Amino acid sequence: MRQATGVSCANIALVKYWGNRDRALRLPANSSLSMNLASLTTTTTVEFRDDLASDVVTIDDVEAQGSARERVVAHLDRVRALASINAKACVVSHNNFPAGTGLASSASAFAALTVAACAAAGLALSTDELSRLARRGSGSACRSVPGGFVLWDACDEDDCSFGRTIAPADHWDLRDVIAIVESAHKATGSTEGHALADSSPLQAARVASTPPRLEQDALAMHAVMMTSAPPLFYWRPATLAVMRAVRAWRADGLAVAFTIDAGPNVHCLCPAESASKVETLVRARSLRSAGVERVLTSSVGGPAHLAPRR
Ligand code: PMV
Repeated sequence: MRQATGVSCANIALVKYWGNRDRALRLPANSSLSMNLASLTTTTTVEFRDDLASDVVTIDDVEAQGSARERVVAHLDRVRALASINAKACVVSHNNFPAGTGLASSASAFAALTVAACAAAGLALSTDELSRLARRGSGSACRSVPGGFVLWDACDEDDCSFGRTIAPADHWDLRDVIAIVESAHKATGSTEGHALADSSPLQAARVASTPPRLEQDALAMHAVMMTSAPPLFYWRPATLAVMRAVRAWRADGLAVAFTIDAGPNVHCLCPAESASKVETLVRARSLRSAGVERVLTSSVGGPAHLAPRR
């Protein structure tokens, strides 16, 4: 096969990956746990062509340049090396949600790219192997390759560092009601952020006690970010407004908790039966005037897969 299309969900980390013990291999400082998001997907087509002099990468209808393109080219090089091919590729990728805003677009992007490029190059890899390879493009992408609730176990070696499903998507009917407070591309991406993590005096303590509790780990990760040198401030005033609101709703008896990735948007996790109530509350006028622009709701998603050929 010379052309294939891969589809992958984004994922939201319940226990966060922040900081690498090996930057080049993207071996994480700590284990992390996530759930795939069925409604947030990246669809990527890869075609290897002998008539191309260089790789052409289009993301959301714009031809990628600079470091964004180089990251994709480096990943294609990994696939070419595995498949022993030299042909350059045409890559066309679409996200159905705002990319680069802390909604894990790099996770779904590199999982879809891995699945599509490997199939287009004629490689038949197992899910574990695809996950391991996706990790090299973006660490959290290894958790978008398998489906449902996924554990990425921190281990010292490349060959054991990949995501594994610990429970399928239908194990727990959770919803992620995402309060989008900013859709613009963030100024500092997570690759640079991981590299700064060790400059925070809080990182060693966070890694040593990777907190199992949802909100605590998101707050510990942002505390590391804010105390890195230079500091990273991903929150906006509306981020804090939603966090405070979620805590108040929970104090009133609603089953809901928040988490935040490397961006300002707040993920409100709740059982399916509370989702419409949470959506209504997030859309309320007080939070809209605080800066909530829109709301996206997702159930738990399945594994990355190939789209049927048309
Ligand atoms: O895979 P990266 O390099 O985009 O890092 C993801 C980092 C967080 O989203 C903030 C946390 C996580 O575990 O997904």
